[in-house]
Amino acid sequence: MTIDETAVETVVTAIKQSKKYRDTSEETIRQLAIEAVATHKKARPAEKAVRRRLHSIMAPYLGDPDYDAAAERLNKVFVDGDEAGIRAACLDLMHTHLSTRERLPILDAFYRDIFAVTGPPGRLLDIACGLNPLAFPWMGLPALGTDFVAYDIHEPRITFLNHYFILQGLPPLAFVRDVALQTPTESGDVALFLKEMPRFERNYPGRGRALLDGLDARWLVVSFPTISTHGGRNLTNRYRDFFHQIIDGTGWPVTELLFDTELVFCADKRPVGQ
Ligand SMILES: C[S@@+](CC[C@H](N)C(=O)[O-])C[C@H]1O[C@@H](n2cnc3c(N)ncnc32)[C@H](O)[C@@H]1O
Repeated sequence: MTIDETAVETVVTAIKQSKKYRDTSEETIRQLAIEAVATHKKARPAEKAVRRRLHSIMAPYLGDPDYDAAAERLNKVFVDGDEAGIRAACLDLMHTHLSTRERLPILDAFYRDIFAVTGPPGRLLDIACGLNPLAFPWMGLPALGTDFVAYDIHEPRITFLNHYFILQGLPPLAFVRDVALQTPTESGDVALFLKEMPRFERNYPGRGRALLDGLDARWLVVSFPTISTHGGRNLTNRYRDFFHQIIDGTGWPVTELLFDTELVFCADKRPVGQ
């Protein structure tokens, strides 16, 4: 099938210049534009379709800090070398995004309990990371000797996270990467995929399992919110079934951890016999 390249370019340019989605990775926009032009033919309806999909993929309603102001605040607390100030700044920044905000009340136990199952990772992958890398001070990992590799499709978020990593003494290993288009190839001891599987499966039906299969990590840590964003319905049983359906047939041993606001599964991908 031939694709109208001009229509694709028109859609990509319009979206990349829009206030709402200019922060999105161009690779992501282009792929959505190609799919939308194939279905809708003309640029205008294709652009509308891409915007609809981006609303669900980027989820801008979950929140963001002002990244320039956030970087300045971090500069100040790191220059002061003030450990309490660094933690306070990270907490405030994580509070600006719903996924990390919901995790704050359980943060002290969260990584302690996960790494008690997986062991402390020397190389940690964070897939669709959002602002979660700012939780590093609560992970109990040494900056020296830890590689924290993070992926997201929000460009200013990734620039900001690399800024934070450098201040924190970590290598700047945050990447703009659409993990639905390209499974990360970097290896890790533990790969986090936190609170994104339901949206990911809705946005890219059937690709959740392929992503988990393709990740080069000994442990997969996949989590779900326990309560719905709207209405406060308890989702624990539904998401437990959902996760077990996704990994059905893998034979991966799974350890479940249930926190107040998050349901976590630690799946051991170690090949049988090792
Ligand atoms: C619900 S938030 C979760 C953030 C983080 N994992 C946490 O739990 O704190 C989802 C994140 O996934 C990112 N995302 C969505 N689709 C993605 C994709 N295809 N590739 C990489 N990142 C993606 C979004 O930009 C957003 O930051």
